[in-house]
Amino acid sequence: MRGVLYEFRDGRIHTVAIQFSAAHHCNLRCAHCSHLSPYVPRRLPSAKSFAAHLQQLATVIRARTLVLLGGEPLLNPELPAMARLARESGIARTVTVTTNGLLLPTVTDDLWRYVDVVRVSLYPQTPPSEAVLEAAAAQARTHRVRLIVEQVREFRTAAVTSPHPMDLWTRIIYSTCGVAHRQHCHMFSDGWLYKCSMPVNLPGYLDRLGLDGYTPSADGVDLHAPGDLLARVREYLFARQPLEACRYCLGWLGRRVPQRQLSAGEQNSPGDRPVRRATHLSYGRALYALARCAKWATVDRYLTRPARPRRDHGRSLSNVPLGP
Ligand SMILES: C[S@@+](CC[C@H](N)C(=O)[O-])C[C@H]1O[C@@H](n2cnc3c(N)ncnc32)[C@H](O)[C@@H]1O
Ligand code: SF4
Ligand code: SF4
Repeated sequence: MRGVLYEFRDGRIHTVAIQFSAAHHCNLRCAHCSHLSPYVPRRLPSAKSFAAHLQQLATVIRARTLVLLGGEPLLNPELPAMARLARESGIARTVTVTTNGLLLPTVTDDLWRYVDVVRVSLYPQTPPSEAVLEAAAAQARTHRVRLIVEQVREFRTAAVTSPHPMDLWTRIIYSTCGVAHRQHCHMFSDGWLYKCSMPVNLPGYLDRLGLDGYTPSADGVDLHAPGDLLARVREYLFARQPLEACRYCLGWLGRRVPQRQLSAGEQNSPGDRPVRRATHLSYGRALYALARCAKWATVDRYLTRPARPRRDHGRSLSNVPLGP
């Protein structure tokens, strides 16, 4: 897998996306939710704190789209204010809301007015009704919003139930992780920027497993610390070293499983059904990854070869080399 290049222009790093969890918790409990929302306590960030961190982030980042998600973003009554702030900040070309659609009937004109894209994930066991989707489509037409309705029948296995070592496989999981390097699902939360959502909600998940010893700040950038923020963000995004959170994650190499809802018991005790690297890596994709690695003498050599600067229409592009 090749990463998508970051671009440097106008003193900013241009990314595919930047994400914000408008609600960390959710009204569903999907097994293997990549944001670990079924395991985290109810938490709704305020529009005021969103604005403060967004303003700081906008000094160094431009994204194709700012995605408001969660958890379930429609649980947050301040979502329309966040969408307006996001649009006014100019941080992204478009503002997207990603939702499971169950609360679409509660969406007011305030939100439709300030978003460009609404992406609805339809899950087999919990789809919103046809009438709800038709009403949303009518609203979208009125407000010239792009409505994307996507059937999601499978999830990748994301988090494991016991950490794996920081070894070669963890480096491969990180280097092939499309969440971080292709989709740029970089998330800001509580004044920190992270490569993905995993560091944000991992502590809540680990609580349910009776595990501790994970510190999100080790995996992120403090947006308000003194010093050159652009340099710090750039160094962070280009780092070849996996996050500590990658020890709890299968990235894009997790086996695909049918989308389903957790039982209350599974939600309370995720450790009862162990998810391990040994059993839940997709052998097909892992073998493909290994075969690509074999082109280089060692994965390490591949991961640490110097980045080749490229030119594209007169603008300089550079990126951490990603593979395999
Ligand atoms: C974490 S959800 C949050 C927004 C909203 N609750 C929803 O489900 O659409 C954001 C997106 O991630 C996708 N997603 C979550 N866990 C996933 C997984 N394990 N594998 C693939 N996609 C996943 C969802 O289908 C959704 O499109
Ligand atoms: S709807 Fe499912 S995938 Fe989306 S945040 Fe909730 S639990 Fe996760
Ligand atoms: S924790 Fe690591 S492997 Fe998992 S999504 Fe984040 S960057 Fe990718």
